[in-house]
Amino acid sequence: MIYFYLLILAPTLCSSKTEAVVKANCDCRDWYGRCKVEGDKWVDDETWSYHCSTSKAEVVGCVATDRANKKEISANGNETINGFWFSCQVTDDKVRYEQEPHCSVNGTEYHVGNLYRNSVFQHICLASGTWVTGCFYKDETEKEVLLNVGESAYVGLIQHHCDRFVDYPGRVQYYTSVRDNVTIATPTGVGKNHNLPENITNILPTNPVRWLPENVDLFIANDGSFDTKIRYLRPSVIGD
Ligand SMILES: *[C@@H]1O[C@H](CO)[C@@H](O)[C@H](O)[C@H]1NC(C)=O
Ligand SMILES: *[C@@H]1O[C@H](CO)[C@@H](O)[C@H](O)[C@H]1NC(C)=O
Ligand SMILES: *[C@@H]1O[C@H](CO)[C@@H](O)[C@H](O)[C@H]1NC(C)=O
Ligand SMILES: *[C@@H]1O[C@H](CO)[C@@H](O)[C@H](O)[C@H]1NC(C)=O
Repeated sequence: MIYFYLLILAPTLCSSKTEAVVKANCDCRDWYGRCKVEGDKWVDDETWSYHCSTSKAEVVGCVATDRANKKEISANGNETINGFWFSCQVTDDKVRYEQEPHCSVNGTEYHVGNLYRNSVFQHICLASGTWVTGCFYKDETEKEVLLNVGESAYVGLIQHHCDRFVDYPGRVQYYTSVRDNVTIATPTGVGKNHNLPENITNILPTNPVRWLPENVDLFIANDGSFDTKIRYLRPSVIGD
């Protein structure tokens, strides 16, 4: 019976001895309670940059995302990199990493509020994603004119439409039609009607052909990556 107890106790005695050795090197403890020694530097969660200095684990900066080539922004810094800002705010209870929202379209980065054109459509960049705001058509003088979504305009016999034709998910279509309040005499068997401009598509908005004529998603969400990240700090634990 006595032997049995000794066997159980032996490992316990051993491990408390090891613990004492670890504690001696525990100048700081990280956010998870692990030991760090004076001078150690580490990054948690790919963002929070720490330094163990004078027995305190301190946040010294935030590692930015790939958009800023993972550059470290120093505590309470706000830097502009590739035209967009990246900030790291440290207070007593939390550290907040924030980067300027943007839209990335076809390799081009847009600021929130920027308008840009792709094919016949005008888009706006918002923090949530891009929205179609209108369509461009050519007037009699071949000048490009913007129609807002829902509007149409006449150029001679032709009506240009910028139309939202489905709601879920929303799509916007640009198409042309022949003005519907004039009668166009099309003589049969004598070739084409020269009253009509060439290359005119006359497709009903209620029966859109995907991609033909021009149509796009009304809204395209920005990729799901974060723009703000917060870590709540614990009172710093000094190794004892
Ligand atoms: C960072 O600086 C920019 C101006 O350079 C400012 O517009 C932005 O609000 C700042 N960000 C934060 C989080 O303070
Ligand atoms: C992307 O760029 C290509 C080539 O410049 C262009 O043909 C295409 O329409 C663009 N797509 C978008 C969504 O901007
Ligand atoms: C057809 O409708 C347009 C727009 O409502 C109008 O400006 C135009 O005068 C009309 N044309 C005829 C022939 O009724
Ligand atoms: C219109 O069609 C003609 C030939 O029928 C072609 O040469 C011209 O490039 C087309 N224009 C447009 C804007 O597609």
